[in-house]
Formats: sequence, structure tokens, C-alpha cells
Amino acid sequence: MAKDLFRRKSVAKILADVQSGFSDSEHPGTAQPHLTRTLTVRDLTLMGIAAVVGAGIFSTIGEAAFNGGPGVSILFVITAVTCGFSALCYAEFASRIPVAGSAYTYAYASFGELIAWIIGWDLLMEYAIGNIAVAISWSEYFVNLLEGFGINIPSYLTMDYLSAANAHTQVQQLTATSALADITDKLRHAAAAWDTAPGAGNFKLIANLPALAITAAITWLVYIGIRETKKATNAMVILKIAVVIFVIIAGLFYVTPANWHPFLPNGFSGVMKGVSGVFFAYIGFDAISTTAEECKNPQRDLPRGMIYSLTICTVLYILIALVLTGMVNYEELQVPDPLAYVFEQVGLHKLSYIISVSAVIATASVLLIFQMGQPRIWMSMSRDGLLPKAFSRIHPKYKTPSFATIVTGFVVAIPALFLNLTEVTNLTSIGTLFAFVLVCGGVLLLPREEAVKGRFKLPYINSQWIMPGLFIAGLIAFWEPAINMFADDNVHHKFPFMLFILLSVALTAASFIKKLSLIPVLGLLSCFYLMAELEYESWIRFLIWLGVGLVIYFTYGYKNSALAKEKVE
Ligand code: ALA
Repeated sequence: MAKDLFRRKSVAKILADVQSGFSDSEHPGTAQPHLTRTLTVRDLTLMGIAAVVGAGIFSTIGEAAFNGGPGVSILFVITAVTCGFSALCYAEFASRIPVAGSAYTYAYASFGELIAWIIGWDLLMEYAIGNIAVAISWSEYFVNLLEGFGINIPSYLTMDYLSAANAHTQVQQLTATSALADITDKLRHAAAAWDTAPGAGNFKLIANLPALAITAAITWLVYIGIRETKKATNAMVILKIAVVIFVIIAGLFYVTPANWHPFLPNGFSGVMKGVSGVFFAYIGFDAISTTAEECKNPQRDLPRGMIYSLTICTVLYILIALVLTGMVNYEELQVPDPLAYVFEQVGLHKLSYIISVSAVIATASVLLIFQMGQPRIWMSMSRDGLLPKAFSRIHPKYKTPSFATIVTGFVVAIPALFLNLTEVTNLTSIGTLFAFVLVCGGVLLLPREEAVKGRFKLPYINSQWIMPGLFIAGLIAFWEPAINMFADDNVHHKFPFMLFILLSVALTAASFIKKLSLIPVLGLLSCFYLMAELEYESWIRFLIWLGVGLVIYFTYGYKNSALAKEKVE
């Protein structure tokens, strides 16, 4: 039994399965229709940017800048470097295993079935919960935009129950203590949703209808085909980049350098409070690896697409962070629409309005990519027997994973009606970082291969001496905070950090003995470090999610796995 949990699918088998399962053109009527190969490196880069630039840079950056001050730009650099290591590892896998399924397929080849299931389940969390967050954020901007046109949707149909209930309680408390000045417009608006919602007592009809509507519309677009998806993505992303560049250039004229002092008003720990929001802004470059079977030349183009999109986004993000914190004092940035807000503050109302419009477009294109990526992961898991067969059914006309796409629509749209933004953002970030940890670890397990012309190859740098050097430097630099950690009252909250320290020791030793490749080692450690910076509560929720996944695996996947059936035959 224990051995079966780690049964691996060889790279040769993965490639052969895809070939045989999708060769209907040669044997009409006997096999499934295949996905069509239309994507080029340009499309992939644009798709990467489409998936990355969204709610993060238009929204969650505000809270991160509020906590970290201008120094949040350092966090954008740290996160970009971390994502860069992971992107290179994704690229190595994408070049060796050019099939849909992303990190899930990669893990199947390197770690075996159980870890592959965990990562697949985890990716569903990244994509589904991430998209719930993006749909909610889209709804906020969209509702503001409509209000600008004088169209008002009843507020109880534009938010989640929890936000309205909390706002209602808060407003009551503030009113009781005569702290009326503390009741912000946002709070008043949310409390009004509670007061005006139909229902009785605590049973009220409060739901985020725009979030449901956009998810339904995007799911339909994804359902009808990759070609249409590509066209829509390219158009949206070009507009989005143009607006972001314009914001940077226009914003530069309004920067007051005094706002950059002090650069780290709340120290490095203040900066690190923004990990979840900033990392959320980078999530997405990995999503394009789910389109491997729709790329013209996945082994060459997928790695390039990922690396190009990440590089472009990094440059844009660092500049935006600097412009934003240079235009107003960082303490003003705790708003849901910081980019529009800063231009409003310097009196550029029209520009502020244009930014809100582009935020609506930007977040819609993120939704599109994740709605497209998700069913392709369900599909890969279904092909391996870990999920029912219906999930790998391809639509005969549209050539898309039809059933999985519809399920995805429900999985995102229904919770988006009711869930709260901050909580879903944290969960997405921790889930994605974990996926990156496994991808980097997976690369370490892959057998070394010679470079093949026209294919990406991860450069090998021997970590034998570099890792011990880095470890000693880290020890000298962080000795004191590490010791202080144990003096904390809530020492169990530091458990993730302790795990990080143990992992560092183990990997340093392994690097010394086995001369591991440096890039995946650094990728694994830096992602785990960012995970350790996230709240303890997010870890607990994440572990619960993984627990649910394991129950499903042991009750369904383990028995129905294609590898298990092969063994029986
Ligand atoms: N990176 C994506 C966004 O910020 C998830 O919306």
C-alpha cells in the first residue's frame, strides 16, 4: 500500500498517454477529440501577463503599502526573485513534459501519485479560490464604475454576508460610543446592505451578484473555445499594459520624494506583512503551463512565455509601487482601489476614472486565464483516473474540456456570491506557494538530462559550497530574531518558521553531499520562507483543505487510479 502511494508515471508514459488519448484525427470515432495547437510565444507571454496583472496590483497592493511604506517595493523584488526561481523550475518541467496539467503532471513524474494528487488538489485551490478573490474584487470595481454612471444596484446584492454583518455590528458599536467620525463611507455602505436586505433577523438575502455574473460570462467564453479566449485575452492585456505604463509615466510627474522618507517606517517586519497581497499580485505566470497541449511548440515557447511575462510584470510592479508611495503618504493607501485613489488625490479625476475602467478589464482577464487553466487540471487528473472520467471529456465542436469547464464555473461562481475577499486571498497565496515548493522540489528529483537544441534547459549551478555559505550568512544575520522567536507568548504561531529553519538545515546538508542544482534549492527555500511569513490561521485553513483532499483521494482516486488498474490487469 505505502509503495503504491508513490507510484510514479514516467515522462515517456505521460507523453504516450496524451498521444493515444487524443489521436482522433487518425482514428475518427475511436478516440476523444483533441485540443487545438494555436498558441505562440507571443500569445503565451500575453496570457501570462493577463493572468498576473489584476486584483493584486489594482487592489491588494494598497494594504501592503500601508503596512510596509515605500519599502514595499523591496517586497516586490523579493517576491519576484522567488517567483523567478519557481518560473525557471516550471520552465524545466514544461520543457520535459509538455502536456496540460501544470505542476500536477510534473509531480506525478517526480514524486509519485500521492504528492501529485496533493499538488493537483492544491492547484485547484490556487485557481478556484484565487478566482473567487478576483471575481469579488472585480465586482467592487464594477459596482463603483456603475455608480459613476448613476446606476445603483442595491448594495445587498453586491457583497458577501460576512462583510455586511460585520459592518452592521461595527457601525452600531461606533454609534453607541459616539465615534461617528470613524464611520467611513465604505463601512456605511456595507452596513446599509445589511439594513436594507430582505429577510428577517439574521437570515438575510445578501449576495454578490456581479461576482456571479462575471464568472458565468467568463466561463461561457472559456467553454466555447481556446481561439476565442486567445483573442479576448490579447485585446484585454494590451489595453491593460498600456494603462499601467501610462499610470507609471503620469504618476512620475506627481511624485514628491519626501514621501519616500522614511523608506521603512515599520521596519522590515512591516514590509513582510504584505507578503500575501504582494505574492497574490504575482500569481498567474504558472497558469500558462496548463495550455501545453494547445501550444505550437510548448518545449520552446512555454518556458519563454513564463519568463518573459514574469520579467515584464516585475518591472511594472516595482515602478508602480514606487510611484504609488511617492505620490501620497503610505498611510493613506489602505483603500481597495489605491491606483485610482492616488490620482483622485492629486486632482486628476478623469485619469482616476480611466484606471477604474482598466481595473475592471484587468481583473476580468485574470479570471479568464484561471477559468481556462482550472478545467485543464481537472482534465489531467481525470485522465489518470484520480477523478471521474467526465472531467476529461472534450467538447466535439468547441474542443474544450466541457464538463470540467462547467463544474469550474459553479465552483467559483457560487462561493463568490458569499465569501470574503481577504480570507480567500490569504488562502490562495499559501496554496500557490506550496505548489511552487513542490515544483522546485520536483526538479531536484528529476534525472539530469543533456541539453536538446530548441528546448529550454535549467542552468546547473553547483550548490555544494554556495548553500553552506548562504546558510552561515543567514545564521549570522538572523540569529537574534530566531532566538527571540522562542520568547514569544504565541510560540506555536512561529511553528512555520521552525519548519523553515529545519528545512534550511536539511537542504544545506543535502546540497553539500549531493551537489544539488542551486536554482531549485533557492526556489524551494524562498517559497517556503514566504509561506512561513503568512498568518498561522492561513496555515490551519490550508491544512484543512489538504485534509479534505486526502479523504477524497483515499476514497476514490487511490482505487480508481489508472496506474492501480494497470497493475491489476
Ligand atoms: N495575480 C492575479 C491578480 O493579481 C491573481 O489578480
